[in-house]
Amino acid sequence: MFENVKIAPPDPILGLTETFKADPNPDKINLSVGVYQDSTGKTPVLDTVKEAERRILEQENTKGYLAMTGEPVYCAKVQELLFGEGHEIIDSKRAATAQCPGGTGALRVAGDYLNIVHPGAKIWLSNPTWANHNTIFEAAGVKCEKYAYRDPETNGLDFDAMYESIKKIPKGDVILLHGCCHNPTGIDPTLEQWSKIGDLLAELGVLPLVDFAYQGLATGIEEDRAGLLELVKKVKQMLVCSSFSKNFGLYRERTGALTVVADDANQANTVMSQVKQRIRYNYSNPPSHGGQIVAVVLSDSELKAKWLEEVAEIRDRINEMRHLFVKTLKEKGVQQDFSSIIKQRGMFSFSGLTKDQVDRLRDEYSIYIVGSGRINVAGMTPDNMDRLCEAIKSVL
Ligand code: LMR
Repeated sequence: MFENVKIAPPDPILGLTETFKADPNPDKINLSVGVYQDSTGKTPVLDTVKEAERRILEQENTKGYLAMTGEPVYCAKVQELLFGEGHEIIDSKRAATAQCPGGTGALRVAGDYLNIVHPGAKIWLSNPTWANHNTIFEAAGVKCEKYAYRDPETNGLDFDAMYESIKKIPKGDVILLHGCCHNPTGIDPTLEQWSKIGDLLAELGVLPLVDFAYQGLATGIEEDRAGLLELVKKVKQMLVCSSFSKNFGLYRERTGALTVVADDANQANTVMSQVKQRIRYNYSNPPSHGGQIVAVVLSDSELKAKWLEEVAEIRDRINEMRHLFVKTLKEKGVQQDFSSIIKQRGMFSFSGLTKDQVDRLRDEYSIYIVGSGRINVAGMTPDNMDRLCEAIKSVL
């Protein structure tokens, strides 16, 4: 069976991490995978997560299966974070949530659902988008198309082009929108633009699928849901894939969710019954640990307040690094304008570095950046900044 199997190409993001790990250079810098590092270069376990784990260890009394949709308290907390406590969507029960193995797992379940229940519906992805979006939906049998997003001239949003290309999406198709901290560009629509997008989608009959993996990393947990809330004012039905990898640092615990927003509670239950089947035929029911952590922290007002401070620390450090990066490049006399990086939000920015420059940074300086030129700003530290900027200067 296996003699003729050809080696698969490395993953553009996780494959790079494997190469990084194998690099013996003690001064290597990893700006590839979207994982937060503190100012000492470590990916910490949050204090609130440690405290929740202590409580879980003491109180957990079974390892029985979770429901196909996971832990109900976790699912309720997911909805509160997405829409805010007491939102009409929650009170009317027209949202239904399934706990999923990470944001990636949630996207795959959404893809499987679309393929089986809405065969022929295509999904439209921003150009550019996260390198794994295309592959997840193609693997689920959903055809992918592109809509315009980034203006290469300004390294900002080309909203007119975006709007014009969304206009061409046929009724019954799906559009994937990044809830905040667009991956890979860090460029988000303004509130006014979200409102226009919502009006247009309602008029066209296109279903939004919001990938919301970075809530809290732009401006704040509440502030970052503004785009989503604008959208739900305009459209009644949508899918939301969310994740606690980044804002809880629960990367390896695979803690995500798929939320269906429907016209009413009955319709939400019907759609969720189909989602449940996709889950059952895939991984049966989700892993528990990460979801328990989130449920414990968000159910305890003191822990929740501490967690909000921890998220603010992560966010502030990333923003400081954005400023320091641009300042250091300027001080080193780099002519190319990197100032747009200060305006971008979340972990990522598009550096504008070419594939050749990215390759040289890796081969000559052990600095790892995704081939598209996407930089994980959260991998920069005050200690590695000088070496990083010096190396960038030399390859430009
Ligand atoms: C990223 O974009 O680097 C993260 O979302 C991690 C991943 O799985 O690719």
